[in-house]
Amino acid sequence: MKTIIEPFKVKTVEPIKFNTPLDRETILKQAGYNPFMIHAEDVIIDLLTDSGTSAMSAKQWSGMMDGDESYAGARSFFRFEKVIKELTGFKNIIPTHQGRAAEKILFSILGGEGKFIPNNTHFDTTRANIEFSGAIAVDLPCTGGRDPDIISDFKGNMDIDALEKFIIDKGVKNIPLIMITITNNSNGGQPVSMENIRASRAIANKYGIPLFIDACRFAENAFFIKKREPGYSDKSIKEIAQEIFSYADGCTMSAKKDALVNMGGFLALNNDELALKARNILVVTEGFPTYGGLAGRDLEAIAQGLEEVLDEHYLTYRIRSVEYLGEKLTQAGVPILQPPGGHAIYLNAQKFASHIPPHQYPGQSIVCYLYVIGGIRSSEIGSVMFGKTDKLSGKFIPASMELVRLAIPRRVYTQSHIDYVIEAVIETYNQRQSLKGYRITYEAPLLRHFTAQFEPIKE
Ligand code: F0G
Repeated sequence: MKTIIEPFKVKTVEPIKFNTPLDRETILKQAGYNPFMIHAEDVIIDLLTDSGTSAMSAKQWSGMMDGDESYAGARSFFRFEKVIKELTGFKNIIPTHQGRAAEKILFSILGGEGKFIPNNTHFDTTRANIEFSGAIAVDLPCTGGRDPDIISDFKGNMDIDALEKFIIDKGVKNIPLIMITITNNSNGGQPVSMENIRASRAIANKYGIPLFIDACRFAENAFFIKKREPGYSDKSIKEIAQEIFSYADGCTMSAKKDALVNMGGFLALNNDELALKARNILVVTEGFPTYGGLAGRDLEAIAQGLEEVLDEHYLTYRIRSVEYLGEKLTQAGVPILQPPGGHAIYLNAQKFASHIPPHQYPGQSIVCYLYVIGGIRSSEIGSVMFGKTDKLSGKFIPASMELVRLAIPRRVYTQSHIDYVIEAVIETYNQRQSLKGYRITYEAPLLRHFTAQFEPIKE
């Protein structure tokens, strides 16, 4: 087998500014040991997120020049609408400025007090929008989905039996929709099988509940189906994606992932009455229905990106580059969440820095060390993000897993960048005994991980 190469040539470059470990120690200290507070310029390889960080193609950039900026009825909207209709089959296509704006509109209509919304695993913004409406967001991942060491093909799946029990228990009238997130970001970017989506549809039909897909990484999910699920190897990614969407009544989409753009999203759905309500909210919060918070040029770039992302050469390279990172780290003994997901590698921080207890944030410690050693920015997904202190007892409640996410931007880094990341992670792992715990010196009341300040614990 030959090396799987990047299926593109580089036409425009953005220089990386280099600094030294000594510089980075100062920068990190000034940022309160929170990489979210570091200027991006001071980062060598930025693996904070795969969202909005894609490199656009020459065709997307030329589409930007060609964007029709008319307030109403822009040609760019009709191209956007046509591409999404063909891909998803949904009747109503509503542009939004990003994924969470689509979620906000959907749950403003369907959420509310007394309602429950099940999902294989909600992403944070989905959960936040559901809870903001007064409804309750519930995760029903499949058995083993949350075990970092189990290797299986579709660890992102919904637990279908649990879903049915949940519907019976809470009552059909209290469940306005079922959601499936593909790939399952909060569960390691693991894919969901077509069989599982079909089974979710069967439950939705049985109880007359609509099914919505959180489609951010639909193309990566479709690629995993092609590679891993019997009966799909001869189908095109587009055919697989079309089949996925055919089982749903609608979707929310953050175009910042699999539409290969830096900003954008949409809500798509079949129900005309619901679409009318959604457009009424859209006009107030986002914009006129044919632009909804986006410029005409953004709509062009999304339409083009949605066509490019279906290219199998692109997806082969994309999934392989993440797998390659996971493979090399595993070979070196670095504990990661298995198997590698579609858009990121998650280090198992609890095993990696087993001498640091959860209340001293092992993930944060790895994140800081990786920055100093290699200028690599990653994010803690553990007790900094999800840990709590019980108000009454003052007792620390840790997150269910201590992870560090290395999210890979699309089409941005080459194999040598990934090799550099591998070297830095292995070096950090080899020096793990010198990692120190951290304590929080400042935290905001909500979503503290973004702005928290830390200090290393001296002993
Ligand atoms: N759903 C999923 C599964 C996501 O991963 C995200 C964003 C959203 C919805 C919200 O989309 O950012 O366009 O409003 N995930 C990013 C991440 C932020 O880093 O994983 P958005």
